[in-house]
Amino acid sequence: MKPIFFMLPMALCSMALAADLRPAPETIESEGTKAIHATAKTLKSTLMTTMKSEGAITAISTCNIVAPNLAQEQINGWKVSRTSQKIRNPDNAADAYEKHLLEEMKHQLENGAKPDELTISDMRHGQYVVAKPIMIAKPCLACHGSNIDKPVAEKLQSLYPNDHATGYSTGDFRGIFIARKPMKIEHR
Ligand code: HEC
Repeated sequence: MKPIFFMLPMALCSMALAADLRPAPETIESEGTKAIHATAKTLKSTLMTTMKSEGAITAISTCNIVAPNLAQEQINGWKVSRTSQKIRNPDNAADAYEKHLLEEMKHQLENGAKPDELTISDMRHGQYVVAKPIMIAKPCLACHGSNIDKPVAEKLQSLYPNDHATGYSTGDFRGIFIARKPMKIEHR
């Protein structure tokens, strides 16, 4: 019996120690990237399913409800939001720091970085920050392109009177996903 009594506290101790260790930046970056991918996947599949079954107008309403709700959710302690240099929903407007991230991302893309491989990570104000670019693909044009169907354009205009997020082409840099997670305080 004895070893079991010893083993249990030891196991608990090593768990507590592991939880206190600050993970290496690569681990953090891949965690943040995973949270971004999960959010992107949910957004995309919700959007595409609604587009196919009910059309763009209903999809706008879905997006209007789903996207802000998703931003409130946490994935493994990460919160994921979206922002852009050309905003549709003013709630997604970039603050000074996010503007800086957008500029940096744009700069790196212009210098040949591949969107899928491009990640910016940072530590700031007690938080880990991981950002990935959002690029325009063909299905996005129905609501972000230059020739938006009139009923769709009207619906967008009624929901977002200050919409700046149109006129895009396939392959354009649309914005960024930003994942944030509070850094653990180290007790030493
Ligand atoms: C059915 C219409 C529709 C389609 C298709 C669509 N979007 Fe959007 N998009 C919206 C709406 C509506 C919002 C505002 C959501 C909100 O209120 O947060 C939005 C917001 C965004 C935002 C947040 C920044 C902002 O301007 O508020 C990004 C980034 C974005 N869309 C990228 C994309 C990309 C990339 C695609 C293609 C994969 C896409 N969208 C396809 C309707 C659409």
